[in-house]
Amino acid sequence: MAASERERLIAAALEVRRRAYARYSKFAVGAAILAADGRMFVGCNVENVSYGLTICAERAATFAAVAAGATEFQLLAIAASGGVTPCGACRQVLAEFAPQLPILLVDADQPKRIVEANLRELLPAAFASFQPQQAKEPRRGSRKQRG
Ligand code: THU
Repeated sequence: MAASERERLIAAALEVRRRAYARYSKFAVGAAILAADGRMFVGCNVENVSYGLTICAERAATFAAVAAGATEFQLLAIAASGGVTPCGACRQVLAEFAPQLPILLVDADQPKRIVEANLRELLPAAFASFQPQQAKEPRRGSRKQRG
């Protein structure tokens, strides 16, 4: 990958971070993901008064990509104050598409400070498959069902 592409991804993560809707935590996060075909998708965290409905920047970017038809990824950049690793939920979502995804953790306060990580190390032993026969209907109680 060209260095300029990497720089463009970092710039996009920093830029979209400015649009984070983080009125409760005040912690703004931006993410930019580079698809295998060269397209770039961005996302920011969007919080909600019902806290649990908050979506992280990483999932927002991933879902935007999938909605545009991109499901293969080569690089993710995350920008936040101090630099953060993605949360467990985002790791699992990313592993669905790219279990070996390289990730750039960008400190938004010092954007030249970049830590390189890989999803392979951040989420070892990810849940990756299940046997269809294990997904049988759960057994119901003995009460006969009404027709
Ligand atoms: N957040 C992200 O968007 N990505 C991360 O990697 C860490 C956490 C958001 C969720 C919430 O809006 C705020 O940061 C504080 O947890």
